[in-house]
Amino acid sequence: MMVSFNDLPISRKVMRVNVIVGASLLLTASVAFISYQLVMFTQSAAEHLATAADIAGIDVTPAILFNDPRAATESLTALRASPNVEAAAVYTLDGRMFAKYARSAQEVSNLPESLSFAPSSHRIEGNGLIVARQIVSDGKPIGMLYARSDLQGIRQRLRGHAEIAVGVLAAAFALALVVSSKLERKIAGPIRSLAETARAIASKRDYSVRAEVRSKDETGVLAEAFNEMLRRIEEQSAELEARVAERTEKLTAANKELATANEAKDRFLATMSHELRTPLNAIIGFTGTLLMKLSGPLTSDQENQLKTVRTSGKHLLSLINDLLDLAKIQSGKVELKLEPVNCGSVVNDVATALGPLAQAKGLRFEVIMPEEDLVVPGDRRALSQIMINLTNNAIKFTHQGFVRIELKKLDTEPERIELSVTDSGAGIADADQKRLFQPFEQIHTSGGRTFEGTGLGLHLSQKLAALLGAEIVCRSEYGKGSRFSLALQESA
Ligand SMILES: Nc1ncnc2c1ncn2[C@@H]1O[C@H](COP(=O)(O)OP(=O)(O)OP(=O)(O)O)[C@@H](O)[C@H]1O
Ligand SMILES: [Mg+2]
Repeated sequence: MMVSFNDLPISRKVMRVNVIVGASLLLTASVAFISYQLVMFTQSAAEHLATAADIAGIDVTPAILFNDPRAATESLTALRASPNVEAAAVYTLDGRMFAKYARSAQEVSNLPESLSFAPSSHRIEGNGLIVARQIVSDGKPIGMLYARSDLQGIRQRLRGHAEIAVGVLAAAFALALVVSSKLERKIAGPIRSLAETARAIASKRDYSVRAEVRSKDETGVLAEAFNEMLRRIEEQSAELEARVAERTEKLTAANKELATANEAKDRFLATMSHELRTPLNAIIGFTGTLLMKLSGPLTSDQENQLKTVRTSGKHLLSLINDLLDLAKIQSGKVELKLEPVNCGSVVNDVATALGPLAQAKGLRFEVIMPEEDLVVPGDRRALSQIMINLTNNAIKFTHQGFVRIELKKLDTEPERIELSVTDSGAGIADADQKRLFQPFEQIHTSGGRTFEGTGLGLHLSQKLAALLGAEIVCRSEYGKGSRFSLALQESA
């Protein structure tokens, strides 16, 4: 897989940059050097060839003057001494070929048929170097000498130089690698160590480590700044920890105080309720006795007043009972007895106790339950108290229509048993439903109409339900009616 240059470790980047820069420098230098050599070699080869041609020109001058082509051809044979010369020819002023020389038979064809008089020149053509020289006698041009040589000599010298260049290149490359790997350690080393420190801190969250400061350059400054940052973080987190510890200590102390105060309150409530109950029971009991007229006749006024005393007394007693229960639950002193409870029989008891109350208000009172016994693990007293509270509320807040107690099995997995109380009464607005289960919350207090009660019933019932591992759920629509239900696990 190719890793992009950006993702390479810094050491590799430094190395690559060094090698690429070094190699391109050397390569450019070598190319320039070899090009220069090529030009120089060509120049000197052309000068050599021109000199040989000029000598041959001087040799053939008498032959041209005496119009003796044979002598000219013989003179040209002297060119054999220069093995690079492939072919040569002498042309007269009118461009006609006068004499020729060729190293081998097939090279004759390389000679032009005619050559017009022109200034001396040289050029490279195909695989050969060509030189054309004027032949001059007594300051007057008498003909042209054309000579062609192969490039063997140039090629050989160039090859030699290229080999040297490649050797130098390879040696320089190796040297560059060694130097850059040393340099890499110097340049990338500190950055790498900084990165490793940062990584260790990120993974271990240990701010006490420090980066090593190796130099006074930018990486050194970076490492110092990094260390300074670490020092500050360490300081701040220590400060923070100290503050958290201090606050926690204060909080613990406050909590302890609160718990003691709460306990005292619960104890006070429990004792007070208990102390209040005894005289209250006496008041209710003796009022009852008076009302039974055992101790003598009563006037109708006296009877009415005594009935009010008894009702108020009972109301006070139920309030005190609720408070006592709540105090007990709050202080964790309630331990429910979990035993199999037959829900049907609880429903029957509640219906027997409260049915007459509903009928007295002109409400239809319905009880729906299956034939089979539905048994849940629970506490009979708690379950009855919940159902009595719910049914009492339904009757209290319904002025016409019905109140229905229902017991049924739900098709949930695992199977559960649901107890519910539904009414066609006042209902509760959505916004109020959250407050229902708060202590001392009463919803229907506006509009001048007041209902009996303290707003503890649902709060207490929900606490009892929680002890049974269940929750009372309310579904209600304002003005239409309400449904309170709780689902319990069935006994195996
Ligand atoms: N079935 C219901 N229909 C309409 N409103 C209800 C119903 N049940 C409860 N509420 C509303 O919820 C409030 C709280 O009920 P809760 O039983 O806690 O108190 P309470 O009945 O007023 O007093 P307590 O039960 O302590 O005698 C009630 O005051 C009433 O406004
Ligand atoms: Mg109530």
